[in-house]
Amino acid sequence: MAYETIVVETEDHVATIKLNRPDAMNALNSQLLGELARALREADTNDKVRCIVLTGSSKAFAAGADIKEMSQKSFVEMYLSDFFGTEHEAIARVRKPVIAAVSGYALGGGCELAMMCDFIIAADSAKFGQPEINLGVIAGIGGTQRLTRMVGKAKSMDMHLTGRFMPAEEAERAGLVSRVVPAKNLMEEAQAAAQKIAEKSMLTTMAVKEAVNRAEETSLAEGMRFERRLFHALFSTEDQAEGMSAFLEKREAQFRDR
Ligand code: HXC
Repeated sequence: MAYETIVVETEDHVATIKLNRPDAMNALNSQLLGELARALREADTNDKVRCIVLTGSSKAFAAGADIKEMSQKSFVEMYLSDFFGTEHEAIARVRKPVIAAVSGYALGGGCELAMMCDFIIAADSAKFGQPEINLGVIAGIGGTQRLTRMVGKAKSMDMHLTGRFMPAEEAERAGLVSRVVPAKNLMEEAQAAAQKIAEKSMLTTMAVKEAVNRAEETSLAEGMRFERRLFHALFSTEDQAEGMSAFLEKREAQFRDR
């Protein structure tokens, strides 16, 4: 079924998903999050797709959850519908690598969505924020947890309590984004990173993702054990044999996801 609030293009093994509600700064409403969860699930199960890029417009990656949609809801409605819970979990469950390419505002749920991706490439115009406090609420899809893990308590508290916007340069210094690039080069850089990832063995990219994500959820000792088991397990794959042979034979590896 066609999408109305996102645009999906797949080329050279990379699915690019563009949030597309230009009149509302890409505010995340139920329809958009539902479509996004579906598109991500489809990309995740499509053998042709090896990496995903999630982006918005030059003005806004996403300016947060749709305030118009939420404003009249009661606790009972929010609780019974588990507002954004299902979509959020579907997005976080994607196993293929997802890069967020962020330009302009990434606020509230928009910042949280970017943080759900595996890493963020930011345009120098990007501004990150958790301004929910100005609306009398707090973050609802991971902001207090993921931002704190990514930038530490001091900056996370500062952002959540004051609602200030953090510019791209500061976000890079703080560890929220992996690189900052000139706005005009954002998509080119994100696509190049995605292409690099798409050349690897899918088995290995998925293992990397699982292992790094485990670092956020468990103790160092448990995480190390998990990593070692995955490392050992990869020696049962053809791609390990191919990768190491290719290095020794001074040629490019031809990975087959086996
Ligand atoms: C609904 C939004 C919106 C939002 C912008 N718009 N953000 N609509 N929900 N989150 C709409 C505006 O109403 C306006 O529509 C149009 O987009 C353009 O926005 P302007 O405000 O006119 O633009 P500008 O002056 O450039 O300011 C941009 C902005 C500002 C700084 C991004 O719009 C803003 O502060 N937005 C809200 C940011 C925010 O509070 N986010 C957190 C939401 S709560 P019209 O029709 O007037 O042209 C949240 C909780 C997550 O995210 C929890 C998950 C469950």
